[in-house]
Amino acid sequence: MTLPKPIVIGVTGGSASGKTSVSRAIFDQFSGHSLLLLTQDAYYKKSDLPFEQRRLINYDHPLAFDTPLLHRQLKQLIAREAIDRPVYDYKNHNRSDEVVHMTPKDVIIVEGILILADEELRNLMDIKIYVDTDDDIRVIRRIKRDMVERGRSLDDIIQQYLKTVKPSYHQFIEPTKRYADIIVPEGGRNKVAIDLLTTKIRAILAARGLQE
Ligand code: ADP
Ligand code: C5P
Repeated sequence: MTLPKPIVIGVTGGSASGKTSVSRAIFDQFSGHSLLLLTQDAYYKKSDLPFEQRRLINYDHPLAFDTPLLHRQLKQLIAREAIDRPVYDYKNHNRSDEVVHMTPKDVIIVEGILILADEELRNLMDIKIYVDTDDDIRVIRRIKRDMVERGRSLDDIIQQYLKTVKPSYHQFIEPTKRYADIIVPEGGRNKVAIDLLTTKIRAILAARGLQE
């Protein structure tokens, strides 16, 4: 018996907008159900450049990602095949040698800053969400997070933000808002938006015969 097609939900927005929080809030509503979270960050390209050059790469540019690999692996998950997802190491600015084995699920959440910039990826998504958070809030969150979790200094974070993160956000990420079905202000703490999304996902699950 062939299983119905999984539901693919894309969650995008600027860096530190709350994409992970929204994805986790949806995830938590489906405890016990078959859900999988795929992050675009895992698909940053592997680089042979020395560390000092790697840290200067524009990581907010569409070409920083191995999008064909993400596309291929997402299609495999939709076809209910398992994948070995790459792992990214922010402290080393490179892909690590590890992989994570992921088995297919009924609901796939794809999360990342540029997932709506690629037409082929967009075409695989049933629901497209843009998490909209003001730039000043995002930069404050990013400073805190990158110092604690990604091994960065305050000076490096500010330099990178002004040189690549901010201009690329306005050039590549913010324009993808027009592809979103839903724009969520306040990220994962927007309870109304999370409830609406959960209801819609349950409706699609039921329509495809994939009840919880
Ligand atoms: P993204 O995945 O878009 O980079 P995250 O969901 O990881 O964003 O959030 C980035 C940081 O901001 C995290 O440290 C998170 O705890 C914090 N954060 C997310 N949403 C909120 C919120 N609504 N209020 C306060 N802090 C938040
Ligand atoms: O979790 P978040 O959406 O913030 O992750 C994407 C961000 O990670 C990008 O804005 C990019 O600048 C940052 N990044 C980085 N260093 C890397 C790879 C990505 O600062 N080596």
